[in-house]
Order: sequence, then structure tokens, then C-alpha cells
Amino acid sequence: MEQHEIIRIPSVGQPRREQLRQQCYNVRIDVFHREQGFPLDTEIDELDETAEHFLLRLLPSLRPIGTIRASRTSNTDYYKLSRLAVLNDYRKLHFGRELVLALHDWVTTDALSRGETSAKVVAHSQIPAIAFYAKFGYTPEGDQFDEDGAPHRKMVVHLPISR
Ligand SMILES: CC(C)(COP(=O)(O)OP(=O)(O)OC[C@H]1O[C@@H](n2cnc3c(N)ncnc32)[C@H](O)[C@@H]1OP(=O)(O)O)[C@@H](O)C(=O)NCCC(=O)NCCS
Repeated sequence: MEQHEIIRIPSVGQPRREQLRQQCYNVRIDVFHREQGFPLDTEIDELDETAEHFLLRLLPSLRPIGTIRASRTSNTDYYKLSRLAVLNDYRKLHFGRELVLALHDWVTTDALSRGETSAKVVAHSQIPAIAFYAKFGYTPEGDQFDEDGAPHRKMVVHLPISR
């Protein structure tokens, strides 16, 4: 595995937020729009402003090759994992796994700070990615549904939070 790092995009008002978040968007546009054919105009959505964004980049080049985002809206009791993408040339090298585990680490810390004892994470998985999420304990809930024109399944995991 090439040398790499995963960084969390700085929060609103911090230096370099826009530049680094754009690098996350660029990976997503490459994968979801150019490769998979999802519309460009819905790629950036209402969650992007408040979500936690993570960027995986190679070292020492700082080339961005993967991203994931976590969100929790105020009226929900669960976290949402979304927009997980690794550039095609870098798949099956465990970068996707590292992004999921980085998101789980952040969720665990955030849930702990809220005094919660477990954290539910929900992902809307494309059908070919179901087996990937299952590797991290996610199980399917409910029927297949359409999202952005492609079939998806809700996948859920409960992370234990220990003090
Ligand atoms: C899904 C995706 C992020 C996985 O990233 P990746 O870096 O290739 O995955 P990893 O190498 O970390 O895989 C972790 C494990 O899952 C397995 N795996 C990866 N993709 C899989 C798939 N589609 N189906 C089943 N298993 C898969 C790997 O073999 C590996 O298994 P191991 O731990 O036993 O070796 C990547 O394929 C991708 O970006 N796809 C296009 C975008 C996409 O579909 N995103 C998900 C939207 S719901």
C-alpha cells in the first residue's frame, strides 16, 4: 500500500476549508459522475455544508484519491455515511476500508461527547457495494429503493461507545 494520510476537512471559517473540500468534491465527481454516470448537478447536496468530510491523499505527492463524509442532522438519532469513493486505479488496496474506519473513529468520538452509549450509522449502499459494507458489520434494512436513479439498499451498523 502506498504511503498515504487521511485528513478531516477544517470546519467552517478555518483556513483551507474550501480548497480541501473541493478536492473531496473532485474525487466524487470523478467517481460518481464521470465513471458511474450520476448527474453532476445533484452531486453536491444539502448535507455538504454541515457534514464532516475526509480526504485520503497519497504521500508525499498529496494526490487526493479517496473521500467519505459523515453527517448527523439535528432531528435524527443516527449518523449518515455517504459519498464514499476511491479512484478506480486505487481500489481493492484497502483505502476504502481505511476511510470507513476513519469515519467510525470520528462517529465514536462525537457520540461519546454527546454522552451516548452506542452510535447508529446508516449508509445507502449501491447494490454492488453491499458486500463491502457487510465487512464492517453493516446489515441490510428494508427493501431496495431508488436513489438518484440507481437501486440502493439501506445498510445499518451500531457502534459500541465505551468510555
Ligand atoms: C466501494 C469502494 C469505496 C471500495 O473501496 P476499496 O478501496 O476498493 O475497498 P477496500 O480495498 O478497502 O476493500 C475492503 C474489503 O472489501 C472488499 N471489497 C471491496 N469492494 C467490494 C465490493 N464491491 N464487493 C465486495 N467486497 C468488496 C475488499 O476485497 C476487501 O476485502 P478484504 O478485507 O477481505 O481484503 C470502491 O469500490 C469505490 O469507490 N467504488 C465506486 C464508488 C462506490 O460505489 N461507492 C459506494 C457508494 S454506496
